[in-house]
Amino acid sequence: MGEHINNPVPVVAIVVAAGSGSRLGAEVPKALVPVAGVPLLTRAVAQLAAGGVDEVVVVAPVEGREAFVDALAGAPVPVTWADGGAERQHSVAHGMGVLPDLPAADADAQVVLVHDAARAFLPADMVARVIDAVRAGADAVVPVVPVTDSVRELVEDGSTVVDRARLRAVQTPQGFRRGVLEEAHRVLAESDTIVTDDAAAAEYIGCTVTLVEGSRDAFKVTEPLDRVLAEALVAWGVS
Ligand code: CTP
Ligand code: MG
Repeated sequence: MGEHINNPVPVVAIVVAAGSGSRLGAEVPKALVPVAGVPLLTRAVAQLAAGGVDEVVVVAPVEGREAFVDALAGAPVPVTWADGGAERQHSVAHGMGVLPDLPAADADAQVVLVHDAARAFLPADMVARVIDAVRAGADAVVPVVPVTDSVRELVEDGSTVVDRARLRAVQTPQGFRRGVLEEAHRVLAESDTIVTDDAAAAEYIGCTVTLVEGSRDAFKVTEPLDRVLAEALVAWGVS
């Protein structure tokens, strides 16, 4: 028992980095795209560690794995590897499959974050907000930002305005009690259901999703223009 007090259960982040990056169309896998010479994956893991993550599980393609391992050779926290799946949701599930064995009560209560490697510029204080909210008792935590564009919804014969004041854009890292995340993915796999993110998975099994403040800096590098923004952020000393 005393051991538990001296060694609190580590906070783990599952970093999904196994996508093809088709919209970015880069010369290397998206997670390895350098910004000012440093790969997105390297940056993302450093920021997670700075925000309080103790270990990471990186989900990466099997092919070309060496380059991913190289990118994290100097990582500030221990790294475990898992193989990518067909959809992001499968990649997350593979990551959960290699989480460390813990006594049942510890495993259920462990704080697990799920993060897109492509969101490489997440501020450390945003990571800490997510971890704190799970520690405070939330089952599922999502960082969000207001929507700045006006939004219209397509309907059968045209489109209709949506009140953007009521909308929030969802980012990562999302945070969960490990027991919740495992149960959500188990239920989804059983029912062959695909959802767009892990908060939606938790909601699918009836959990309440708690929102915390996200950050514009945690944008997802998705299209070529995002690379320009990323380089500019670093040049301006934001990250
Ligand atoms: N991802 C993953 N496994 C998949 C699909 C996506 O691990 N089968 C990861 C990506 O590596 C990325 C994150 O999920 O870090 C968010 O996905 P997205 O931004 O869509 O990245 P890609 O799927 O790689 O890009 P695209 O959709 O343009 O091909
Ligand atoms: Mg994708």
